[in-house]
Amino acid sequence: MKGTRVQTIKRHLKSLWSVLFAFIVNTLFKKILAETYRSEIIFFQTIRYKNYDDIKYLEQQLRLCAHHLDKLLTLDTFKEHAGIAKRTVELIENLQSKDITDSPTVKWAQQILQAYNQRLSSQDVLQSLPTDGSSSCHSFSKDSIADLIKTRRSIRSFRDEPVPRETINAILEMGLWAPSGCNRQNTEYLILDQAEDIRFCQRIAGEGHNFPQQAAWSVVILLDCRSYALPSQRHQAYLEAGAAIQNMLLYAHALNIGSIWLNWQGVERSHVKLRERFGLTDWLLPVAMLCFGYTKVPPPVVPYRKLLQDAVQYTGSL
Ligand SMILES: Cc1cc2nc3c(=O)[nH]c(=O)nc-3n(C[C@H](O)[C@H](O)[C@H](O)COP(=O)(O)O)c2cc1C
Repeated sequence: MKGTRVQTIKRHLKSLWSVLFAFIVNTLFKKILAETYRSEIIFFQTIRYKNYDDIKYLEQQLRLCAHHLDKLLTLDTFKEHAGIAKRTVELIENLQSKDITDSPTVKWAQQILQAYNQRLSSQDVLQSLPTDGSSSCHSFSKDSIADLIKTRRSIRSFRDEPVPRETINAILEMGLWAPSGCNRQNTEYLILDQAEDIRFCQRIAGEGHNFPQQAAWSVVILLDCRSYALPSQRHQAYLEAGAAIQNMLLYAHALNIGSIWLNWQGVERSHVKLRERFGLTDWLLPVAMLCFGYTKVPPPVVPYRKLLQDAVQYTGSL
């Protein structure tokens, strides 16, 4: 009788302890999440409410404005957009007053403005391409593109051999050709070729399992947070970085350079540590790290991907 009562008490204590444990974990977890989220909001808001007058920011704004005019030129229905045209002119003049006259952004915006003004003063119908594809001047074949995409693999072991600077630059440049929201082109790169810098970044990135040790060079992908500071827009900046990364990985593969995309978990205010070590401005946020080099150990198993039918939901008559 006494034994049964002791057992009952033990059982109650055990379930009480489980409830208490769940409560503590839950509270801690919520607190950590809230703090992480709050610090992220403060970071973006601080960035948003500052006034910027630096060249990079003005060029970003110019691309944004010129893009709206560029878009008008490709729509079936063209209409005037005087406000944006005025702002484009103001930004060009502002940059010119800072001696920025022949940057690709300024040149492009000037050409867009010219095309826009011509279109305003004429009633030209839009020139559309023939639909049979005969006007295509591309030199690639669809098979080679599919082959490139399907044979790229994540490489985690590299030969101890330097990669020429021109090759690195060619890969980085392909990242710049990725699409970006309203052509803002927010993604930037921090290039590392010193082993201790690569190790430092891997460490503060949160070091997933088996980060490679022998990469010839690495690039930390940075977002310029100034133009996507609203929480509802922020994901755009991350998507742009992803598009730039994929361009680089594919082009590296085309050049027979192995690559790996590494997670940047951003633990313990890693962006602050990164900024301090490399003297970066406070609106640059690291979001990923890539490693490149000549492949030492290629993955032995050809990967599968899930079936299209498992990823697609068709609608309408498709
Ligand atoms: C956002 C993202 C984060 C990744 N992080 C890591 C990482 O931290 N460590 C790693 O070894 N691989 C990482 N990878 C690579 C994936 O593991 C790899 O792309 C996936 O397993 C498919 O293999 P494949 O690239 O060879 O086709 C990451 C990939 C992406 C897109």
